[in-house]
Amino acid sequence: MRIGLLGFGVVGRGVYDLTASREDMTVAKVVCLEDVSLPDAEVTKNFQDVLKDDSIDTVIEAMGGLHPAYEFVKASIEAGKNIVTSNKALVATFYDELIPLAKEKGVCFRCTAAVGGGIGWLSELERARRMQTIEKVGGIMNGTCNYILDSMTRLGLGYDEALKQAQALGYAEANPTTDVEGIDTWHKVILSSNVAFGISLDTNTVPVAGISKITAADVENFTAHGLVCKLISTGKCAEGKVSAYVQPTLVKLGEPESAVPANFNLITLVGSASGRMSFYGQGAGRYPTAYNVVQDCADVLAGRGFYSPYGAKVAAENTDSMRYYVSGATDAWLEENAAERWNNAIITKPVTVEAMHAWRKENADAFIAAFAE
Ligand code: HSE
Repeated sequence: MRIGLLGFGVVGRGVYDLTASREDMTVAKVVCLEDVSLPDAEVTKNFQDVLKDDSIDTVIEAMGGLHPAYEFVKASIEAGKNIVTSNKALVATFYDELIPLAKEKGVCFRCTAAVGGGIGWLSELERARRMQTIEKVGGIMNGTCNYILDSMTRLGLGYDEALKQAQALGYAEANPTTDVEGIDTWHKVILSSNVAFGISLDTNTVPVAGISKITAADVENFTAHGLVCKLISTGKCAEGKVSAYVQPTLVKLGEPESAVPANFNLITLVGSASGRMSFYGQGAGRYPTAYNVVQDCADVLAGRGFYSPYGAKVAAENTDSMRYYVSGATDAWLEENAAERWNNAIITKPVTVEAMHAWRKENADAFIAAFAE
């Protein structure tokens, strides 16, 4: 395999290092806007040098972001090159365009590192769904948020300090808003649901709430009640109805999710035959993520090009009801739905996911966290 590597940041550099001593794959060209010189690969600032090189059969996209990643990946597929990417935003956003295009052109398209960093989650999900109906996917999918919440809970760190550390360790996206507002997790659960349920989720129907408004006082409230706050994603499919959402969630001490430390992820599927199976590992960082990119290249070499049949566009219906913890804002609707108070926070009666997220959109200063089912 001869590889054109797009991007030489945290992940790209890791891919270069992990492939350096392999005989079955060679990074032939690296597209990088910085001045870098590499002993074993040609470095260029011009993507056309990869596109026009017929000796390159596989493009690894490790640039992140939507543009120009989308244009480069699309052009590479049209030129008959396999794609391996770690870019969840790209795949979640253009799933119903890029997957059919790759199939039409007869090239492979793999993105295991896009969800769970080094965890073989999407590749195992693909195997799991061959044998059974997948009923539920989700869990802790963002290393940065888990690092922040864990540092606030266990070490008493402030939000800003914990975020700074996560950035310094290379867990956070270039724009950390993507992590802390839950967008990164949102991409990951959309992609996981697409693979698990054989659909293409309408992204506009999947609500997301992040952790940026959490305070030390909230964490004290949770600790006093034997609860731990985690950013948790959910994708469910029952009798043809799909629901999907991302929200801070309060789990009881002793539940597996409550014990997940630092940048680790814990991602779970529930299958009709297997029941619950959870996957635990480093969800972010150079070598864990690069590990799965290189695994995908090995899968391409073995002829495993896709995860699942591509399915039709589906809108999520989020009519599940649950109790929520709300701080930082209130109004008449929230007071009507209040069941109890923890210091300055309100605990609601069960309300639908749809209704709570709609309220939060209008109350941008609020922090919300669902009580785990
Ligand atoms: N920013 C992401 C995270 C990187 O913190 O999990 C891995 O997708």
